[in-house]
Amino acid sequence: MDALIQAALAARDHAHAPFSQFKVGAALEDAAGRIHTGCNVENATYGLTICAERVAVFKAISEGAREFRRAAVVADTGTLTPPCGACRQVLWEFCGDIELVLANLHGGTETVRLKELLPRPFDASFL
Ligand code: THU
Repeated sequence: MDALIQAALAARDHAHAPFSQFKVGAALEDAAGRIHTGCNVENATYGLTICAERVAVFKAISEGAREFRRAAVVADTGTLTPPCGACRQVLWEFCGDIELVLANLHGGTETVRLKELLPRPFDASFL
């Protein structure tokens, strides 16, 4: 199995999802080949919940990584789970038109480009 998917799968085990029971794992490969992982961390207020993808991005940024090659998202769904709108925006701002591997627990995978999911992004180039 792709090491990036495997890392996202392992990160998913750490998900804190007592409210939705919906566990998600994400992994981000930086330009040096290092893998940064994240899981969703829910909050009793619901609104302060953070998705696996943003945890992975913020962890990577906080550790000095700046360029990324690929990202993977793993959830236990038949129809592969894509990043939510907020995560698409954050991924775009830090990773650009990155390759995104969506996967589930049963070997299902699909590779898309972030631009396909966020076709006309707003970013700092407009400011
Ligand atoms: N979630 C993610 O972590 N990533 C996604 O791509 C979709 C949604 C989380 C947020 C929340 O903890 C749970 O899944 C249900 O929405």
